[in-house]
Amino acid sequence: MGAPEPMSRAAVELATSSPDRTQAMAAAFAQLCRPNDVIGLEGTLGAGKTCFVKGLAVGLEVEDQAKVISPTFVLLRRHSGRLTLYHFDAYRLRDGVEMERIGCAETFESGGVSAVEWADHVAQCLPPEHFVLAIMVAGMTERHFRLTGHGPGPEARLDGFRQALSDWRR
Ligand SMILES: Nc1ncnc2c1ncn2[C@@H]1O[C@H](COP(=O)(O)OP(=O)(O)OP(=O)(O)O)[C@@H](O)[C@H]1O
Ligand SMILES: [Mg+2]
Repeated sequence: MGAPEPMSRAAVELATSSPDRTQAMAAAFAQLCRPNDVIGLEGTLGAGKTCFVKGLAVGLEVEDQAKVISPTFVLLRRHSGRLTLYHFDAYRLRDGVEMERIGCAETFESGGVSAVEWADHVAQCLPPEHFVLAIMVAGMTERHFRLTGHGPGPEARLDGFRQALSDWRR
């Protein structure tokens, strides 16, 4: 039997029981976000990816919350706040060509926080260091979340998220 994985590498498992709770969790998540953080969101239609981004916008003090809606057809919406929120939606993409065409690499490094819905569609576009939040539908209003860190920086920060999000621990 090998040595157990160090705590910081283990995924953070969370759960919520309503859209409001998901938004509150996302707002708390935002408190730990830093410039140039990229969060890939995975989960089926209606899992709660946009709901999470709306909460992120609250935590990032985005000025016009009503404008935080799914960017499915425009691919990217930019929202000014304490940190700028870049909200991508790769639902209708099958690879990273269009993401690259709109300059996602520069956007990821422009000092804001990027959230990418359907990140699994454009995995090759994500920078080497990023987070992935996978959302699972566990019931009518139950959602399970699994946060992983990719690259040494995000991996090292997982324990901070685990502690700060203890109200939503599963
Ligand atoms: N615990 C919960 N967290 C988030 N959303 C929830 C929860 N319980 C129920 N819901 C409902 O699930 C739906 C989530 O919709 P949302 O648009 O956020 O999903 P999405 O993953 O972005 O979907 P899409 O793939 O279409 O972009 C909403 O109708 C919301 O009310
Ligand atoms: Mg969505």
